[in-house]
Amino acid sequence: MTLTSLPPVLTPVEADTGVDLPHASWAAEWRPLLRRFGAEVPKMKPVQRVSYEPLPLRMRARVAWSKLKTGHEGRTLFTFTWHLPVSAVRDSGLRREMLQFAESFYNYELPSGDAVILTRMLDDVGLDNGLPLIAWLRAAVAQMAGEESSAIAAPTGQSGAGDGSFSMHSDMWIPALLFNVFNHAVPSQGASLLLPMDDMWEIAAQSGVPEDARQKMEAARVEAGECDYFSQFNNSLYGNHPWTPEVTRALSAAAIEVPMARGQGYFVNDREWLHGRTVLKADALPAELKEHRLYRLAYNNARLDAGATERRVEWDLVGRTAAGCKT
Ligand SMILES: [Fe+2]
Repeated sequence: MTLTSLPPVLTPVEADTGVDLPHASWAAEWRPLLRRFGAEVPKMKPVQRVSYEPLPLRMRARVAWSKLKTGHEGRTLFTFTWHLPVSAVRDSGLRREMLQFAESFYNYELPSGDAVILTRMLDDVGLDNGLPLIAWLRAAVAQMAGEESSAIAAPTGQSGAGDGSFSMHSDMWIPALLFNVFNHAVPSQGASLLLPMDDMWEIAAQSGVPEDARQKMEAARVEAGECDYFSQFNNSLYGNHPWTPEVTRALSAAAIEVPMARGQGYFVNDREWLHGRTVLKADALPAELKEHRLYRLAYNNARLDAGATERRVEWDLVGRTAAGCKT
C-alpha cells in the first residue's frame, strides 16, 4: 500500500531465499531510473559520513584531528550516517525523478506482518552502487521529513560477540523502519536472524527475564523514537544478568535464519522484529570491507514521521529535544 499516486517503490516477487516471509524487489516502473542513477554515480561527489545532529565543539575537534591523522573519525559515533546530498544528482531532470522515487519510498507501507525479504536490489543500480543509493535516499528522506534524525544510514560498527555473532536485538533508533541491503555476503557466515517481537516476550519470560525487566523493555520500545533506546531495551536481556546466557541462546535458537547474498536484504519494523546474525569470523572479510558488508537505512515513513512530529511538539513543550535523552 502506498499513500501517493506514484507506483509503489517495491513489488512482491517470488521467494528465492527459502525463507517463509513475503519477498519484494524494486518495482519494474523504477528500474530504468535506478539504471540511470547508477550511470551517474561516477560523476557524483563521494559519499560522506556526517553526524545527523551537531556535535559538541570538543567532539568535532577530536573527529577532525582523527580524520586528519587516519582518514577516519576514530571511533564509532552513534549519530553518524552515510550521506550523499540530494544535489549530488546534478542533472535536474534525473534529480526530479529520483525525488519521486524517494517519495514513493517514503510513503511505502510494509505488508501486514511488518517484514519482507528484499531481493535483487542491486541489479539495476549496479553492484557497486548500493552505498551511493542508500546514502542519497537517506538525504532525500531527511529532506522530505524536514528532520535530520528521521533517516539514518548508520555505518556498521565492529560490535557483536567475540565470534562475530550478534544476539537478537532491536536497534531502537529514533526512526523505526529498518531497510538493510547486503553488499558483501560471506558464504555460510554472518547470516541474518529475524524474530518477531511477539515471540520474544514469551521466550524471554520462559528464560527467566523477570517481569520488571520486560516492562522496562516495553517502555523502551514505546519511547524509542523520542531518542535512541538501544541500551534501555537490549540491556534488560544482555546486561550480565543471571538470565542472560539462557535468553541469548533461546532467542537465537527461535529465530528465522536468512542466508543473504549480495543485493538481498530485509526490511522490517524494528519495533516489531528483533534481528541478529550468525557467527562471522574475524578474518571473514578484509578490514576495509567490514563497514561495507551491508548498508542499512533506518527511517520513518510518512505515516510514522507524522506521529514522530506530534511527539516532537510535545517534547518541545516539556523542554525536551529529540536528543534530550541520548547517552
Ligand atoms: Fe542492529
